[in-house]
Amino acid sequence: MTMRALVYDRYGAPDVLRLSELPTPTPKTGQVVVRVCACGLNSADLRLLKGEPFVMRLMGYGLFRPKYRVLGSDIAGRVEQVGAGVTAFKVGDAVYGDLSGCGLGGLAEYVAVPEAALAPMPPSLSFEQAAAVPMGALTALQALRDKGAVKAGERVAINGAAGGVGTFAVQIAVAMGAEVTAVASAGNLDGLRALGAAHVVDYAREDFTERIGEYDVILGVNGYHPLAHYGRALRAGGRYVMVGGSDGQLFEGLARAPFMPKRDGKRFTNLTASTSVEDLRAVSAMIERGVVRPVVEQVVGLAEAVEGFRQLATGRARGKRVVSLV
Ligand SMILES: NC(=O)c1ccc[n+]([C@@H]2O[C@H](COP(=O)([O-])OP(=O)(O)OC[C@H]3O[C@@H](n4cnc5c(N)ncnc54)[C@H](OP(=O)(O)O)[C@@H]3O)[C@@H](O)[C@H]2O)c1
Repeated sequence: MTMRALVYDRYGAPDVLRLSELPTPTPKTGQVVVRVCACGLNSADLRLLKGEPFVMRLMGYGLFRPKYRVLGSDIAGRVEQVGAGVTAFKVGDAVYGDLSGCGLGGLAEYVAVPEAALAPMPPSLSFEQAAAVPMGALTALQALRDKGAVKAGERVAINGAAGGVGTFAVQIAVAMGAEVTAVASAGNLDGLRALGAAHVVDYAREDFTERIGEYDVILGVNGYHPLAHYGRALRAGGRYVMVGGSDGQLFEGLARAPFMPKRDGKRFTNLTASTSVEDLRAVSAMIERGVVRPVVEQVVGLAEAVEGFRQLATGRARGKRVVSLV
């Protein structure tokens, strides 16, 4: 038995991706095989496609060529087969999860996954919506709750609010009771207000870091500002969390944030998101309570996924891009 999959054998631009037939996987002990119905694209897929930054290749993804030939970490689908020892799921269950910790492979019709990497899919979502959730929502939740320690009533600024992570961060911060300022380009501001942002800033018209002492928490999701500028926009006791952004932002966040002077109790930290299924269940609960919903900008078929990657590479986004495999 074979299946359709989007594969790549060398690092490069989206053109290196091609549709191919691969053997359909069978489940090992503790695994289920999922019939993938939809796969959400993430910036991480783009980095793995390009093999950049180079240091990532040293982290087990393949020095000269990709170790994992099929990208795609955020999946939603139905359990097709269960392996020995599987207790949490049965054939036919609708599931979703982030496979970035267990070999990726979501851009294929079937993928074998440890059962521990999956959660039941929120019943109110379509497969396309569910596939837009895991990495973006987990990143946003962990940045706000664990690194930002956001409390009700605090002022939270989210730089890069319109993309896959940012649209979840706005909603989760609002659900935590924060007063949210969303920073994005002009065309995305109305959508961010609709997600609950109390204030919006067009980054082309205003540098929000010039609002001295304004915020309790700043999430750096995209774009670039020097750490000192984030610092001046924080109140005493404020927290800056570097989630992502330009290469300059990543470098400063990783190399300099731990050594920033801790004046007025201000803290500068970095997030490395984890694929926690417990946290994914917490996100599911927020979705079922109606306080968080995925924003899906574009759904393409597997044959058009290369175009989805090209769009992702523009760095402009309004929520998530999803590949449908049904
Ligand atoms: N730390 C972790 O564990 C972790 C986990 C997941 C992702 N990340 C990182 O987080 C970052 C965001 O990921 P994503 O999936 O949200 O990306 P995305 O969906 O591609 O979103 C890109 C967003 O960046 C915004 N943007 C572009 N230039 C900007 C600027 N100068 N100022 C403010 N916003 C700007 C765009 O908004 P406009 O279209 O309005 O310009 C767009 O909404 C990436 O660097 C990714 O690698 C980190």
